[in-house]
Amino acid sequence: MESAAAAQQTRNAQTRHARDEYGPHRQLVMKVISHAQRHDVQHLGTQPQMRGGNRLQSLCLLGVGNGNDVELNELVTWFERVELVDIDGTAMHWARVQVPEGPRNRLHIHPTDVSGIFSCLGRSAYSGDADQLIRRAHDAEVTLPFQPCDVVVSSCMLTQLIDAAVDAVGIDALFLDDLASAIVDRHLRLLLELTADEGRAVLITDFVSSDTFPDLPDLPQHELRRAVARQLETGNFFVGMHPGTLKRRWLALAAHRRPINKIELRGPWRWQLGSRTLAVVALTAQLADMPTPK
Ligand SMILES: C[S@@+](CC[C@H](N)C(=O)[O-])C[C@H]1O[C@@H](n2cnc3c(N)ncnc32)[C@H](O)[C@@H]1O
Repeated sequence: MESAAAAQQTRNAQTRHARDEYGPHRQLVMKVISHAQRHDVQHLGTQPQMRGGNRLQSLCLLGVGNGNDVELNELVTWFERVELVDIDGTAMHWARVQVPEGPRNRLHIHPTDVSGIFSCLGRSAYSGDADQLIRRAHDAEVTLPFQPCDVVVSSCMLTQLIDAAVDAVGIDALFLDDLASAIVDRHLRLLLELTADEGRAVLITDFVSSDTFPDLPDLPQHELRRAVARQLETGNFFVGMHPGTLKRRWLALAAHRRPINKIELRGPWRWQLGSRTLAVVALTAQLADMPTPK
């Protein structure tokens, strides 16, 4: 049985040369990133952009994989440092060397399991102790060797974390909702931990697909939002991935740790991936200044 990490590597190897297919999705992801940093920008164009007049901005991309859903060439002109995080070091290395030498030095690779539980997934590794797995998912230690970034983006990876858990414990496991909640909570907290004061944390996630919503690919654009809302009302979305619930959950988690000024929701938009169409949203959290400890 392939390990959870190896399964991601196989999938990334299969999609490495499918960059063209990601085009429309990539444009929207780039727009979301641009919006997340634009308000602070003082210098546009090919120069790295300044924040607050004296500091260059940094970006962290979680789940960057092959980099098919971003323009790394462009991002290295927007940000002084770009931290690339994924469980698949080979995919990130491939993405990095597509950027010319020189600007490439702004890209820093961190092969890391951001869920902290992949080593206990994979059917042979899961020991059957549900409570322990849930606790582990909730409290996972994830250490990354860089300073909090001005913009942190998790791009279509959260569903991969939950899919890996579903593969390990089975879709009918009674504790699946609890496990998914623990994974989601840990990921939302990680985004807060990695984001600098007054920065932006962005969760881009797919939440329903044409597998259970076959009309999705053919809907006229102007009907998309309403049709997707109907699917959400009837419970047709991936385990733990209702965008409204994610937003509420994130605000609640932040209240105890890092105050969020507001969360903006963009989308839904459609992402065509092979024969499947996915509906995707972006939640951009605007972090407040860190309160001074009393
Ligand atoms: C659907 S892909 C996103 C598309 C990707 N940004 C690209 O353009 O190729 C999800 C990414 O999440 C990564 N991933 C999945 N589980 C992970 C984990 N536990 N820790 C870190 N990265 C993980 C996968 O390796 C993959 O690159």
